[in-house]
Amino acid sequence: MTDHYAVFGDPIKHSKSPRIHTLFAQQSQQDLDYVAQQVPAETFVTATNDFFANGGQGLNCTVPLKELAWQYADQLTERARLAKAVNTLAKQADGSILGDNTDGIGLVNDLIGNHQIQLAGKRILILGAGGATRGIILPLLDCQPAQISIANRTVSKAEALVADFAAQGRLTALGFEALAGQQFDVVLNATSASLSDQLPPLPADLLAANACCYDLAYGNQPTAFVKWGLAQGAAQSLDGLGMLVEQAAEAFFIWRGVSPATTDLIALLDTERQK
Ligand code: ATR
Repeated sequence: MTDHYAVFGDPIKHSKSPRIHTLFAQQSQQDLDYVAQQVPAETFVTATNDFFANGGQGLNCTVPLKELAWQYADQLTERARLAKAVNTLAKQADGSILGDNTDGIGLVNDLIGNHQIQLAGKRILILGAGGATRGIILPLLDCQPAQISIANRTVSKAEALVADFAAQGRLTALGFEALAGQQFDVVLNATSASLSDQLPPLPADLLAANACCYDLAYGNQPTAFVKWGLAQGAAQSLDGLGMLVEQAAEAFFIWRGVSPATTDLIALLDTERQK
């Protein structure tokens, strides 16, 4: 019997998730379909109730629905609870709905697994203090970095976020101007600035020797932040295409108990966008 999966979001037209999950399913011989459905926030609860009532097994939720999905879930994993955002809903054997957030583990798996960028003992800087940052903190802390600093235009937002995670590990909040004179091994752009091709105000000399830059956003062209990293001499300056595939792989594992291979698919999607 074919199991049903979907991604809800608004907008959703350009989502790569149906393609990614369909290829995962073919590769691992899982009998499932996966569709994209445009669901505005106002109809999220009704659409999700209908989806699960009609045999849906698992759902991905993207912008602007991740907080609503967090509220919807009957149970939450620890990482989703702290992220206050859910990108994966899974129907359990008893009919209840589990909420998880696979964004952070997707990022970590791309950094470490695909790009050999180690995080243990490293100085990590996260730019931005919104939902994208919230989703990645716990998996990053689990990698035992030397420090995680969170720089945000609105410093009070970074401070509030650090306070929320105080029990999980040591985090520092600061404004962009306070970055002057500091150096980091890994700089992660989790601001939404990339979407409008903008760059947070970053000082020169922010990168330590062999530092890596990573933009959680991705596009057909290198983002402003990826270009900045290259211009600053980063050892690697990457965008979030790999994270997209890896967060999907983690969701697929939650639903199906099978870990799909990701390397060839990332390479394929990367080649396609260079055309
Ligand atoms: P998301 O869920 O994508 O994280 P969000 O919660 O709206 O979206 O957060 C957007 C983040 O990008 C915030 O940290 C925001 O900074 P402020 O909190 O000061 O608003 C940051 N951001 C957006 N545009 C930016 C820009 N041009 N320069 C620097 N930071 C920017």
